[in-house]
Amino acid sequence: MTNLHCKSISVIGVYLLRVITNRKYGPPEVLKLEEWEIPIPKDDQIRVRIIKTAVNSGDWRLRKPDPKIVRLFFGIFKPRSVILGISFSGIVDQVGKNVSSYQVGDRVLGSPGMKLGTYAEYICVSEKAIITKLPEKMSFAEGACISFGGLTALDFIKRCQIKTNDSIVVYGASSSVGTATIQLAKHFGAHVTAVCSKGNFDLVKSIGANEAYDYEFFLSQTNPKQYDVVFECVGKTEIESNLAFLKKGGNLVLVGATFRQMWDALWISIFKRIKIHVGPIKETIENLNFLITLANLGKYKVVIDRSYALDAMVEAHRYVEAGHKKGNVVIDVTQE
Ligand SMILES: NC(=O)c1ccc[n+]([C@@H]2O[C@H](COP(=O)([O-])OP(=O)(O)OC[C@H]3O[C@@H](n4cnc5c(N)ncnc54)[C@H](OP(=O)(O)O)[C@@H]3O)[C@@H](O)[C@H]2O)c1
Repeated sequence: MTNLHCKSISVIGVYLLRVITNRKYGPPEVLKLEEWEIPIPKDDQIRVRIIKTAVNSGDWRLRKPDPKIVRLFFGIFKPRSVILGISFSGIVDQVGKNVSSYQVGDRVLGSPGMKLGTYAEYICVSEKAIITKLPEKMSFAEGACISFGGLTALDFIKRCQIKTNDSIVVYGASSSVGTATIQLAKHFGAHVTAVCSKGNFDLVKSIGANEAYDYEFFLSQTNPKQYDVVFECVGKTEIESNLAFLKKGGNLVLVGATFRQMWDALWISIFKRIKIHVGPIKETIENLNFLITLANLGKYKVVIDRSYALDAMVEAHRYVEAGHKKGNVVIDVTQE
């Protein structure tokens, strides 16, 4: 196999790829750089040389884990998925014999879903996974970041059935999910109020927010305006404090709801006339293509905060876990 991007060849002549592993739960330092054999795609899979991946808030939660109940689903004593990472962009470098939609050289982006594994120079994914071709105008960095916040925001926005002239308040508006929510809500014709730190007012207004308030002011109002949709992106408030901002019959979205909040949400939505949306989102190829179409039309911008090299993954995790990234954080994996 000819591949200029393989970092090294083992003593038995097998090409190796660099991966970042998390063989145990814990702080960012559990992440280690290792060299593995390059995977061979199955008949229905493509192999992608990853150019960029992203560190998302979900990644550090799985690494830690936070909440602890994550262990029930990802491994009681140690993580079952040794390589984290849920979004990528890259170039197809090998295809299985039954693959019909992609060929070697295609530029692609997408998500392996909960199989994870994008903290690596190569990944094999089914051609039926949540992947699609990277548009000409989109950079690999944008391609790697479009799915996490974008698919989350779009799924919840659809559940709320946001329509023209609805009012929505986006709490935690500078987050990955928040920056996506602002733009999608605007696209569907809503009036958007962003709540974030003062330092992020320019950012949220530049992507379409009609007005911006800082957290302290917003939460301290005694007689607040009420909205059709309250979209809490960052899991930093109690359910009850959101209800004061919601019209009767309105929609409350708790993107980062804890299990306790999910349980409470069930009862509150029954006894008060509101709809509360919680729980994991469904990633769909239709939604990914929708986001890409909007981006191609210049109506959706992937907000990127900063980039790290693959071998600086520990620092990248520290930064994202600190909880103040603006939009998305990119990891440079291999050269374009
Ligand atoms: N339900 C699902 O399927 C699903 C899918 C994806 C993500 N999520 C969850 O969604 C949440 C958001 O993810 P994300 O990646 O978008 O988050 P993120 O980008 O990591 O969030 C960072 C942002 O949070 C803001 N923030 C920090 N402390 C805050 C506070 N006390 N009040 C308000 N905002 C604050 C920061 O703004 P400042 O720097 O201005 O403070 C920063 O812009 C996470 O809890 C994640 O687990 C759920």
